[in-house]
Amino acid sequence: MDEHPLEEPGQFSRSMDPCILIIFGASGDLTARKLMPAIYNLKRESQLPTNFACVGFARREKSHKDFRNEMKEGVSKHSRVKPIDETLWNTFQEQIFYHQSEFDDEGGYDRLKKFLSDLDNQFGTKGNRVFYLSTQPSYFPMIIEKLRKHGLIYDHNQEGMWSRVIIEKPFGHDYDSAIALQKELTQHLKEEQLYRIDHYLGKETVQNILAFRFANSIFESLWNHRYIDHVQLTVSESIGIGTRGKFYEGEGLVRDILQNHMMQVFSLVAMEPPANLEASSIHDEKVKVLESIRPFTEEDYKTSIVRGQYGKGYVDGEEAKGYREEENVDPNSGVETYAAMKLYIDNWRWDGVPFYLRGAKRLAKRATEIAITFKHPPGVLFKEAALEKEPNVLAIRVQPNEGISLKINTKVPGPSSPIQPVKMDFRYGAFFGLTPPDAYERLICDCMNGDNTLFARDDEVFHSWRLLTPLLEYWAANKPSDFPNYEAGSWGPQAADDMMARDGRKWRIL
Ligand SMILES: NC(=O)c1ccc[n+]([C@@H]2O[C@H](COP(=O)([O-])OP(=O)(O)OC[C@H]3O[C@@H](n4cnc5c(N)ncnc54)[C@H](OP(=O)(O)O)[C@@H]3O)[C@@H](O)[C@H]2O)c1
Repeated sequence: MDEHPLEEPGQFSRSMDPCILIIFGASGDLTARKLMPAIYNLKRESQLPTNFACVGFARREKSHKDFRNEMKEGVSKHSRVKPIDETLWNTFQEQIFYHQSEFDDEGGYDRLKKFLSDLDNQFGTKGNRVFYLSTQPSYFPMIIEKLRKHGLIYDHNQEGMWSRVIIEKPFGHDYDSAIALQKELTQHLKEEQLYRIDHYLGKETVQNILAFRFANSIFESLWNHRYIDHVQLTVSESIGIGTRGKFYEGEGLVRDILQNHMMQVFSLVAMEPPANLEASSIHDEKVKVLESIRPFTEEDYKTSIVRGQYGKGYVDGEEAKGYREEENVDPNSGVETYAAMKLYIDNWRWDGVPFYLRGAKRLAKRATEIAITFKHPPGVLFKEAALEKEPNVLAIRVQPNEGISLKINTKVPGPSSPIQPVKMDFRYGAFFGLTPPDAYERLICDCMNGDNTLFARDDEVFHSWRLLTPLLEYWAANKPSDFPNYEAGSWGPQAADDMMARDGRKWRIL
């Protein structure tokens, strides 16, 4: 049988500039679990530049060899393709190095500069740099200031060399801190050198929203208030906060996933067609739709938004602790692990169409889905109650079982002609026969190519914070009195069901 064309290594490789990728915080969890497996898989698929090296920067003393062994362990455990190719790894590891320094040590940056310049000579990497800041966000300004001070970040395309910086989420803690962070960073960098990673945007199914909407004429003509009743966007996790108690106590669900991942997906679903597929055109349309979200009123905080926190329960048949019993969590914590809200977009396309967003920890199932529910057909011909209950639904499954399904009503064979809903289902895995590349693979590769389409632009982040900051302030000033208000392993608080019921709708059970 012929090999699937998508399986040929390097099938879609672009011609790439040589470069060195420097990871700050390289002994951390993210590097071992996501970044190094992504880099290894890029190498495996011939998607890295031929002239390439990778340097890990962290605090603890260790040799290049120790670091390579740690990275090999991470890749062996977490790579999407297993087992690791020993021969490939043995050659590839010669391009991986470790640099020990504290983030605030000036001497450490001088040594790094000299080391990178030696690697340029050894690997022909020509001074091009990607700095990946996989660190606590509080370190971003300091690291970037020092990189600039020590001549490691250059003016854009100075002498043909480039330097770019990828930063992890969260970008700010609220609107004011995001603006302040941007001001600090752009003293040393241009916006086009700054890549704010949101790994949701690297997921194949999220990228496919644009293809689905704009490469098919049958859906775009229905994509508006005349045909769509409402949209539901769900990001549900069955896991709790695990060992991230300290972090979560300072964040909560809205800051952790709603402000960034969910608002990004929302903007792709709701935006107008861009003039072209240039990064700036797509960002511009995303910003326009974020700008058009109707701001919340105080009444909305009470009637159109629900916060929740999980108590004890059972998930997958196992007993699960309540949030307040988790490690490093205040036993009286008011931090939300669930949020549901109704948004309206005040523009021509979406007039009167509610978008329901629901994000949570410790629900019954892990699932991310966008569901477009269409209006009922005129009730003239098929008057069965079933039609009222079963409108057409287009569901885009972002994870797991990535795919798209469309629920349509059809006649059951036979003389009595009842109408019954059936599903047309497309699954990426079954059709393409491939594990899709991990989001980090795509995003690291795009940054090396200077393509920031799938990264969040500054104004997208600001608009999202501008909507959500007043809500977070309102919540901070009005502590919840009913927490915990949903059981681990359930589908969330009763209040969220009540909110939908008042609108004559229901949350989807995924
Ligand atoms: N983990 C995830 O799944 C995930 C997902 C999305 C976003 N993020 C974000 O990614 C970032 C990194 O996460 P992580 O989980 O990898 O962090 P982590 O496990 O806490 O790792 C922190 C890293 O930073 C280094 N470090 C800390 N302080 C330092 C200092 N003063 N000087 C030099 N090195 C220092 C540590 O080096 P030593 O080990 O040598 O001390 C370690 O390599 C965070 O901002 C997080 O919010 C993480």
